[in-house]
Amino acid sequence: MNDLPKQWADYVQQVEQILDQALPAVHIQPSVLHEAMRYSTLGGGKRLRALLVLGACAAVGGDVSKTAGLAAAVEMVHAYSLIHDDLPCLDDDDFRRGKPANHIVYGEAVAVLAGDALLTEAFAELARMPEKYGTAPEVAVRLVGELAQGAGSRGLVGGQVVDITSAEQRPDADTLHYIHTRKTGALFKAALRCGALVGGADEEQLQAITRYGENFGLAFQITDDILDEVGEANQLGKQTGRDRSLGKQTYPRLYGLEKSQELARECVKNCLDSLSGFPEEAWLLRELAFFVLQRSH
Ligand code: IPE
Ligand code: IPE
Ligand code: MG
Ligand code: MG
Ligand code: MG
Repeated sequence: MNDLPKQWADYVQQVEQILDQALPAVHIQPSVLHEAMRYSTLGGGKRLRALLVLGACAAVGGDVSKTAGLAAAVEMVHAYSLIHDDLPCLDDDDFRRGKPANHIVYGEAVAVLAGDALLTEAFAELARMPEKYGTAPEVAVRLVGELAQGAGSRGLVGGQVVDITSAEQRPDADTLHYIHTRKTGALFKAALRCGALVGGADEEQLQAITRYGENFGLAFQITDDILDEVGEANQLGKQTGRDRSLGKQTYPRLYGLEKSQELARECVKNCLDSLSGFPEEAWLLRELAFFVLQRSH
């Protein structure tokens, strides 16, 4: 039954429904804002962070039906980060998920505000978890703290700032590691830790999941950098060659393609090692670690 492609495809549909219900409808004012939020959140994306929420909950023997609100919240934070990441003042990208970027369709002002609203809505969704899914209030509060830390100035936003301010500078291993573990790794880690917390993880399990998350996030961004150099824009749904033209700090730029692949492989090995004490139920996390190395999108 451990069929990753099938589980993944089914779950993408489920996440779509959860997000559709969680997001404000277009007929609610201001319509243009709700339309813009839905445009960038629905109908696209691998839903990898949601899948990691599910995988972490399952790995610790939790009830995965309780993770729906959390999965939606994490995907909302991710969608906001993509809208803002594509803005002209950040990466200035016109395409995302195979369609025009949010600001191309709605203009910069609405794109900024749609991102703001998605980030806020994510925390509203976490607050609804006790009522909607029977989450213990103290667990819900912990999820709020974990997601805020992952998304905030010492997490995703911090990484994005250093990504932008260190462009066109000489690549440097410490800076690069800082950027990648924050701008990308922090949200993956938060998704995993939150999934494990909903599943009732003990401290030891949480530590192992954390180590998995740190390595997963770094491997994922190393392969993102590699795909920006050698990937197919059609498959990725976004333009390639952007890091080079923006002078970004990337793994291929500092280490070359081959060494970058090797570093990603090491991270994935660490992911698998960190799961060594986990039962068969951790299969999804194991499979996803392999996916990161082989991915072409
Ligand atoms: C893209 O993330 C942004 C990065 C952190 C590199 P994904 O590759 O997971 O994007 P979607 O959700 O599948 O579009
Ligand atoms: C983006 O990193 C990380 C976040 C969106 C927080 P990139 O800038 O490399 O992501 P892509 O390549 O545009 O998806
Ligand atoms: Mg960026
Ligand atoms: Mg970008
Ligand atoms: Mg990239």
